[in-house]
Amino acid sequence: MRGHTERLAAPLSPEDQTVQSMPDVSPTKWHRAHVTWFFETFVLADNEAGFAPYQDQYWFLFNSYYEAVGPRYNRAERGVISRPGAHDVGRYRGNVDERFRTLVDGLDQGSLDKLAGTIELGFHHEQQHQELLLMDIKHVLSLNPLQPVYAGAPAERSEPDGLGWVDVEGGLVEIGHRDAGFSFDNELPPHQVWLEPFRMADRLVTNGEWLAFMADGGYRRPELWLSDGWAQVKTHGWAAPFYWIELDGVWFEHTLHGTFPVDPGLPVSHVSHYEADAYAAWAGKRLPTEAEWEHAVRSDDAQAEVAGNLADTETYHPRAAGPSTGRLRQVYGDCWEWTSSAYLPYPGFHPAAGAIGEYNGKFMSNQMVLRGGCALTPPGHARASYRNFFPPGARWALSGVRLADGGV
Ligand code: AVJ
Ligand code: FE
Repeated sequence: MRGHTERLAAPLSPEDQTVQSMPDVSPTKWHRAHVTWFFETFVLADNEAGFAPYQDQYWFLFNSYYEAVGPRYNRAERGVISRPGAHDVGRYRGNVDERFRTLVDGLDQGSLDKLAGTIELGFHHEQQHQELLLMDIKHVLSLNPLQPVYAGAPAERSEPDGLGWVDVEGGLVEIGHRDAGFSFDNELPPHQVWLEPFRMADRLVTNGEWLAFMADGGYRRPELWLSDGWAQVKTHGWAAPFYWIELDGVWFEHTLHGTFPVDPGLPVSHVSHYEADAYAAWAGKRLPTEAEWEHAVRSDDAQAEVAGNLADTETYHPRAAGPSTGRLRQVYGDCWEWTSSAYLPYPGFHPAAGAIGEYNGKFMSNQMVLRGGCALTPPGHARASYRNFFPPGARWALSGVRLADGGV
């Protein structure tokens, strides 16, 4: 897992790894250091004999948001830090890996059992940052007029079948994590929810469909938009998805493998919750709630095995939906799917005691839930109960749209 982070960063020079292109984006070397700091802080600090931080300043620089751990450096200014450089961060990683191995080798079974949950959280945390690293470098490279490529080549153009609908029976259903294996605390506890019967679109909205929305004045008609969304349309001049650029009347899209004409067969990506909601209003449909999404996926035989266009395909971009099957397509991977659900604690949720309790719980305000994973998501993060979350105006995540209809 640690080696994979370094493989993802390997195509990036120290200069690439230093840039912070906007406050939401973190430099690559910061991601590499912060996930290391996480192990140092939450595993080594309380367990290593004679513990001292690798560098006092790193403790300050690479704390993301944990108030209980002490003061930290301002997030929006991570890009002005030229030292430690990318190579120094590599040495930090090596040091912590070595101390971590020594610690774990020397633990008796009882102590290891006690620490296992935190170590596992550290792995899943670093994997979340593997996705953020790719999301963020995509934005960094997008601002360069030389249009540098991170990796890969575009998929061949293809047109998916028409949009189909899958009927889902409502009723009293259970959502939340209840299977074997890891989950974040925000997926707990499992609980019951009442759902009216509804329909879910069997694939994601495509770029071609989005072009029809644009041609019909989608970005110019306030009646389609939530008030906060319309305010952002006007403030930022939104007229197309985040990475689209119009050149001589043709739309191009920036991707991690370069800039190409928009492919109408691919799922639309890098739209905000506001845009997803306006599109649904235009289409006479709505976004699913997170409970509808999870229940629809759990009731679909085709999803028994998690598969999809996730980061391990190394396409680093959504692909066209395969042929219709009468079941849900593109559930895992391709694009994170905006839901109409606010990111809130499940009934009975209690964050862990201490600093680690800050991991998810304190962000449960003013954000919306996304489901399913994207083409940058590590495969181990694709599951029916996984809750991603971003503010409704966020566009730099690989987010797309699945429609729902009927029910509530
Ligand atoms: C779940 C992607 C919103 O970016 O803060 C990283 C992931 N949590 N470190 C975020 C996360 C702690 C989280 N998101
Ligand atoms: Fe983090």
